[in-house]
Amino acid sequence: MSEQLLNGEISPAVISVLGMGGMGKTTIAKKNYNTYAVKRHFQRRVWVTVSQKFTPTELLQRILDCVLGTTTEKEIRSLTDMQLGERLRALLENVRYLVVMDDIWEKGAWGLIKCDLSASPGDRVILTTHIEDVATHAQGQVHRLPLLSEESWELFCAKVLPAGERCPPELEKMGKEMVRRCRGMPRAVLVLGGLVSERERTRYEWEALRRRLTQELSADTNEMVKNIQGLSYDDLSGDLKICFLYMGLFPAEMEIDATKLVQLWVAEGFIQQANGLTLEETAERHLEELANRSVIQVVDRDYMGWVDRFRIHDLLLHLAKDEGRRNQFNDVHGGSPPGRR
Ligand SMILES: Nc1ncnc2c1ncn2[C@@H]1O[C@H](COP(=O)(O)OP(=O)(O)O)[C@@H](O)[C@H]1O
Ligand SMILES: [Mg+2]
Repeated sequence: MSEQLLNGEISPAVISVLGMGGMGKTTIAKKNYNTYAVKRHFQRRVWVTVSQKFTPTELLQRILDCVLGTTTEKEIRSLTDMQLGERLRALLENVRYLVVMDDIWEKGAWGLIKCDLSASPGDRVILTTHIEDVATHAQGQVHRLPLLSEESWELFCAKVLPAGERCPPELEKMGKEMVRRCRGMPRAVLVLGGLVSERERTRYEWEALRRRLTQELSADTNEMVKNIQGLSYDDLSGDLKICFLYMGLFPAEMEIDATKLVQLWVAEGFIQQANGLTLEETAERHLEELANRSVIQVVDRDYMGWVDRFRIHDLLLHLAKDEGRRNQFNDVHGGSPPGRR
């Protein structure tokens, strides 16, 4: 993909990344977006998370927010779609740009802004989607993400075992059986690894988990990924469940600041102080456990190795929203993004 991004001679300008939820579309797009070569090559880089529901106005506003920074947010809100499009065209006209539209659900999303992006040679747009039609409709290069093969086992071991350690022989068969059922889906392997690593490394514990998972992992691939995430949620302690549900109030794929979230959890009274720790320290331990379980995806750690920024996969965010609704959590907490109430 990097060749297609950087080589101005190659057309077309649009690259679609196609794969089911949890296959690694956002990861691969972000990796490319953040390479040194890409940062140097493109004068402007724009990242928008599209997701399921959006209006044309919102989409244009979000792109402009990203180009201009949020300082002009108020001004942008007052513009019509036509004016928004004009602003965007003017801003991108004489610069080489890369626009990433992550997680598109409808063909229309690309069509809506296509005419506002004045593609000159060298400009690039990456679309990620799980819908075949959306990818082919964009009439660009389609990258179909492959499922993991042997890497699944390596990914699992890296998650479950201390660095450089091999899986104990008496556990290997059971481990491989569970991993096989994840069918090469990175997200499922990571969540499985999280479930396993929270247990003792004994035949008894792994066998109990393997049995519990058998039925859940037999569903079709999309359902299987959802099921294992559901299990991972069920496996949380009561305190962590509440902390997790609270995260359902954040927008999809938003990068969340750990310090801020810790303060919010504490202020909401969700944290039961652990022995010998402050409330904040207890909350930090919660965040580490959620990271270990791959409930959250760590973006950055601080110099001490603690989670600094993270995001939540949109599949899990849906789970948090659904569970929150079922438990009437969102009613109590207003359903508006944290910090904006
Ligand atoms: N090739 C890979 N190897 C290891 N982990 C991966 C790989 N691709 C994705 N992941 C992990 O799988 C999870 C899901 O990836 P993500 O990019 O969010 O999927 P998608 O956007 O397709 O739903 C993330 O936690 C990511 O770190
Ligand atoms: Mg994604």
